[in-house]
Amino acid sequence: MKTLFGLVLAFALALPAAAQTVRLGFLNTYSGPFASLGEYVDKGARLYMKLNADKLPPGVKIDLVVRDAGGPNPDKAKQLAQEMIVRDRIQILTGLVFTPNAFAIAPLVSEAKIPTAIMNAGTSAITTRSPYIARFSFTLWQSSYPFGQWAAKKYKRAYVLVSDFGAGHDSEQAFEKGFTEGGGQIVGKVRMPMQNPDFIPFMQRAKDTKPEILFAFIPAGRQATAIMKAYNELALDKAGIRFVGPGDITTDEELPNMGDIALGAITAHHYSAAADRAPNKAFVAAWKKEYGENSTPNFMAVGAWDAMDAIYQAISEQKGKIDPERTMAIWKNYKNPNSPRGPISIDPETRDIVQNEYIREVRKVDGKLANVELETIPNVKDPWKEFNKK
Ligand code: PHB
Repeated sequence: MKTLFGLVLAFALALPAAAQTVRLGFLNTYSGPFASLGEYVDKGARLYMKLNADKLPPGVKIDLVVRDAGGPNPDKAKQLAQEMIVRDRIQILTGLVFTPNAFAIAPLVSEAKIPTAIMNAGTSAITTRSPYIARFSFTLWQSSYPFGQWAAKKYKRAYVLVSDFGAGHDSEQAFEKGFTEGGGQIVGKVRMPMQNPDFIPFMQRAKDTKPEILFAFIPAGRQATAIMKAYNELALDKAGIRFVGPGDITTDEELPNMGDIALGAITAHHYSAAADRAPNKAFVAAWKKEYGENSTPNFMAVGAWDAMDAIYQAISEQKGKIDPERTMAIWKNYKNPNSPRGPISIDPETRDIVQNEYIREVRKVDGKLANVELETIPNVKDPWKEFNKK
């Protein structure tokens, strides 16, 4: 398989590329139970492109090659990436909502030298799998480790519920390390199926152990509302158990679907639509103008927006002639003091994002549920990489 791919690739790369068109592969999720996640990634990327056309050098155009991996589906992701590289001859790859898909495409982008800008997938190890991957989203360690440290100052007993895949494992391990180092105790933990989970039995087990906090990670989007409803149904709030986790569990666009049960949930995350930083206000206003007053951007939309900015910078600095090594060098030095989420940069050693984490609480602002930022933990590098330095 690999040799055949290599052969076809060598042939494809020998063909001259049209100078002024950059072929950008966009491997996203548009169908299946996780389609709402890809929708925000798509909208964030397209809003950026619409509002920043003037950042491209004159005459340079982007040919967007859009494909649907349909959710966490590594075989499909691999097959589509292969086709995009060999047949569509993409020069840059982006999108990638899900960890399993990002892992699956890593060997291909290494072999073909395709600079790849991750818009979402958050398992720490992804960026170690290819020198051609840079991440503009987040890692679960980045939110869950500092959250564990913060939580240990207030609570002693935690139960941990996570989705059983890379991002969930990272979130669980990171929280556990931060919380227990700070003196907290994990009174129980369970991994739940990633697809179609029934949260009720898991919540019941958690309730029975009488923790002070229930720390959870699920893929954001519809599952965030589903797990909040299970928390409500089993009346964990009345049992005095606070719902906490990375911001995936209170993702901004789902708050209106959750209702008041979400009030008081505490999370750590890098983006809140309610943040009052000027660049965020401008971003949210542009979003509402484009997608409607009732639409709210979320962290996935911002990941896509920021990745697009890095892609535009690479295209612009190279005047549309994409060199893989130069693109990676540009991304390694990427900085944006004015992202909607606050200042961001790429750590040149790891190609992973450095950003603020905010401790937030769901409160009502002007009658609407919002993730209100309470504290800022500045310039967090991926802790997993810090702990696993060679
Ligand atoms: C991932 O696959 O890495 C992932 C998916 C959904 C999230 C966070 C991470 O909310």
